[in-house]
Amino acid sequence: MLYSDIVMEHFANPRNVGELENADGIGEVGNAKCGDIMKMYLKIDNNVITDAKFKTFGCGAAIATSSMATDMVKGKPVSEALKLTNKAVVEALGGLPAQKLHCSVLAEQAIRSALSDYYTRQGIDPLPIVGEVGECAGCS
Ligand code: FES
Repeated sequence: MLYSDIVMEHFANPRNVGELENADGIGEVGNAKCGDIMKMYLKIDNNVITDAKFKTFGCGAAIATSSMATDMVKGKPVSEALKLTNKAVVEALGGLPAQKLHCSVLAEQAIRSALSDYYTRQGIDPLPIVGEVGECAGCS
């Protein structure tokens, strides 16, 4: 089996699909080569992520990682969410095939992009905190 049961479950029944009205941070990342686009919406109160939703136009692994990543940051302080790595998301999913690891990078970057937007809206320069948010490097 190429994909773990957890990946298949999150692909078949993705959590947190959709948009958030009045989101406090919105992030979008994409890769021109594979064409996958991931959009992330975060609701943040007192520096805690109270809700997270996503829209992913992409492959099954990208959808499963968006689903898991949004689940993992919900209820977490922003400082904790910034530490979420694609590796942690992949581990929580029970692994991904090597050629699909880059899809999980998209989820990590989408969250960082949304947090970057959140900081900008707060009048804080996001760069020292979230760093550069680029395109999905693994796709190229
Ligand atoms: Fe899945 Fe590029 S093919 S994100």
